[in-house]
Amino acid sequence: MKKELVVGLLVVTVLTGCSAQAEQDEVIETLHVKWDNPIEAGKYLVTITGCNDCHTDGYLMMGGQVPEEDWLMGSAVGWRGPWGTTYPTNLRLRVQEWDEETWVKTLKNRKALPPMPWMNVNRMSEEDMRAIYVYIKSLGPKGEHVPLAISPELEPQTPYLSLFPQNMPVATSQK
Ligand code: HEC
Repeated sequence: MKKELVVGLLVVTVLTGCSAQAEQDEVIETLHVKWDNPIEAGKYLVTITGCNDCHTDGYLMMGGQVPEEDWLMGSAVGWRGPWGTTYPTNLRLRVQEWDEETWVKTLKNRKALPPMPWMNVNRMSEEDMRAIYVYIKSLGPKGEHVPLAISPELEPQTPYLSLFPQNMPVATSQK
């Protein structure tokens, strides 16, 4: 694995009248990993951006000690919270079903249920989204599809983690 993966900053055209926040957003979305091999870049990105934390069964609990061949197969352990219960998708199968453009469009635009961090992934540069796609595809299809998300009033029939806020200070919970 090549070590010198460096982040390149492209010149940003700052439109007059942009707020400081908008300028900041524009800078963030022009940053990306420079690579000789998109598969290595994708592996690096998957590792540091936390996709395995949820999309690889056991990864969080075992301190990442899951062989790469079992990465990103999704999980039938639900994440239950005020939004209902969601199951991290099997991305090894999903990249077989979606072409690269669908992958990029979804990562860029989707606003959906927690705990998938859409607000972060939406701001990833297109180059990095493509490298992740190519990497996951290189792992090949493996595993089963996970259960569909269920609504808050339904009791999950699978194992799940509870993410209901507990003992929150009043000031925080009122925000
Ligand atoms: C904190 C947990 C968590 C992390 C971290 C996470 N995901 Fe997810 N992801 C989920 C869950 C749960 C779902 C299913 C959400 C739903 O049912 O609406 C999901 C859904 C998705 C989907 C939609 C798949 C489909 O078929 O609709 C994609 C694509 C995806 N994640 C990619 C990623 C990538 C790439 C990363 C790393 C940059 C990542 N996720 C990090 C939990 C997570």
